[in-house]
Amino acid sequence: MINKNCFFIDFQDSLVCWDFKRHKQYQLSSAHAIEVINHIYGGADHDGSVDAMTDLRGVGIIAEEGAQTHPWDWDILSRIFHIGTKDLITDDQPSNETEWALHYLAHCDEALQQERFSSGPAEGDGFLLPRWDDSDEVSRVMGQRITVRSFKDTPVSLVDLGRILQQTLGFSVTRSRTDCTMTSNPFAQRRLSPSAGGLNATEGYVYVSNVTGLDPGFYYYDPQHHSLHWRGKLVSTLGDLVAGQHFVNNVPVGLFLTSRFDKLWWKYKHSRAYRMALIEVGHVAQTFQLSATATGMQTWLTGALSDSVVEQRIALDNPFEHVLFFVACGYSEGAAIPDCMRELLTSREADQK
Ligand SMILES: Cc1cc2nc3c(=O)[nH]c(=O)nc-3n(C[C@H](O)[C@H](O)[C@H](O)COP(=O)(O)O)c2cc1C
Repeated sequence: MINKNCFFIDFQDSLVCWDFKRHKQYQLSSAHAIEVINHIYGGADHDGSVDAMTDLRGVGIIAEEGAQTHPWDWDILSRIFHIGTKDLITDDQPSNETEWALHYLAHCDEALQQERFSSGPAEGDGFLLPRWDDSDEVSRVMGQRITVRSFKDTPVSLVDLGRILQQTLGFSVTRSRTDCTMTSNPFAQRRLSPSAGGLNATEGYVYVSNVTGLDPGFYYYDPQHHSLHWRGKLVSTLGDLVAGQHFVNNVPVGLFLTSRFDKLWWKYKHSRAYRMALIEVGHVAQTFQLSATATGMQTWLTGALSDSVVEQRIALDNPFEHVLFFVACGYSEGAAIPDCMRELLTSREADQK
């Protein structure tokens, strides 16, 4: 059976097999390509090349079981993209702040050497709009939202966490759609963020490291009852879950955002709905950041996750729910550059003198 986690594409005059789950690509010779086609059409009883078959079995393109997969109710496009971009974290993930700073600086140096993208229109080309005097409360909170990369060891209070979760994922009492008879009850609830199809497919799992009155660990946030449900202890640093960005290891609290794809499948059949899952999570993440900022904290966010490890830690039991993003907050002096990177830059500058 052909591995269900492979797709085939014509690239540079060859058939390329892309094992998107294992993030591997194989350029097939015509003998291997013919063997694959024969296998698809002829099953096991055809007269194929033994060598090619051995190779294809060796790399898992052809397998007895065809690889185990959970049902995916959208078409294959979104499955290729989602699974193909999941668990991309490599073996050389930084294991501490210093390693992270060295990796990231090397990455930035490399990017800076490459050609840049084109810039926008020149000044004076467009129709000038009136400037807004942004002294109002909304502008003040939006203006204070910044991404910080250094947190104090100050705990977050339960009251503040409750407020942030309520505003981020809780259901609004004033906005429940009791007026709409076409909407059955589970979908009558509204959040402070928009939701694709009103399905509220986004869920949240709280990372608690330093919250007064709460044991450190992972919790599911139940928006229905505004309550937390224990999921498991913290068994590694946060940095291990977010691609080695260890400068956030002392962040007091965060929220892993997941999406219930099964809810979206039920209403929207095309892979395009996958985009909506991502966009909805983005809206919710922004609400978290604004809420935390209005509460007097500062925020950090990332999509660089060790997806499967996070899904284990938060004890996801629905195979159709997937983690997509992480937002965090705490008290900070407002540094955008982590201390480890600042130190590295200072020593590099000293070396260059
Ligand atoms: C989708 C997304 C992913 C991001 N991922 C990271 C990340 O992995 N690590 C990080 O330190 N910042 C991350 N950021 C934060 C951006 O670097 C930051 O928003 C940007 O530098 C602008 O700064 P500001 O948020 O203070 O306005 C991410 C932001 C977005 C929107």
